[in-house]
Amino acid sequence: MLLAMVQVTTAQRIVDYAMSRRKTGRTLRPKKRAPIRPIIIGGFLALVLVLVAANILGGRRAPTSAGAIDPTNPQQVALGKQIYAVQCASCHGANLEGQPNWQQPLPDGSRPAPPHDDSGHTWHHPDDYLFNVTKYGGQRYSPPDYINAMPGYEGILSDAEIWAVLAYIKSAWSPEVQAAQERANEQAR
Ligand code: HEC
Repeated sequence: MLLAMVQVTTAQRIVDYAMSRRKTGRTLRPKKRAPIRPIIIGGFLALVLVLVAANILGGRRAPTSAGAIDPTNPQQVALGKQIYAVQCASCHGANLEGQPNWQQPLPDGSRPAPPHDDSGHTWHHPDDYLFNVTKYGGQRYSPPDYINAMPGYEGILSDAEIWAVLAYIKSAWSPEVQAAQERANEQAR
């Protein structure tokens, strides 16, 4: 009984309060709507994050599309061979053999150009890495305190020309080395 009376008075108070607010001309509706704003802002931020993440991942994947470097394509390999002779042979050797004593660091701490044939380590790396090092140069992918003398070919060779020169290099590898590099590609995917 007592409890019921307390409840009635409480209910009456709530009604009175609502009426008094209405009389002052302020409605209760805007208060109810307020929480929508953080949801919109939160949703917008989430969308921006997704777009930024997609852009970073997309940017990383963009350079080589799957199958762009094809050592079984005779036209691509022939084009790559010409480009190699003009752009790469002076350092990496006319027959992909690299510079003499290529494993010994030079006095300035940099390394000579390694071979691109089976005896080197080019085939240890996936296609994306080989493409990026050729396009942007080796320094970008080395520790800051390491001097990497591999120049970048951005602005000198088109992406298709870089794919071609890498197709030529890959075409010179033995089947075992080609298969080993394909495993490096699969791991990178
Ligand atoms: C001025 C000399 C020079 C020229 C020209 C040159 N390179 Fe290099 N390249 C180097 C050197 C030096 C390295 C090794 C850098 C290091 O590891 O410190 C290298 C490394 C590389 C690597 C990385 C190999 C690995 O196993 O890490 C690739 C790929 C490569 N060169 C491709 C090319 C291609 C393709 C061309 C021609 C379009 C070319 N290079 C022209 C000097 C040269």
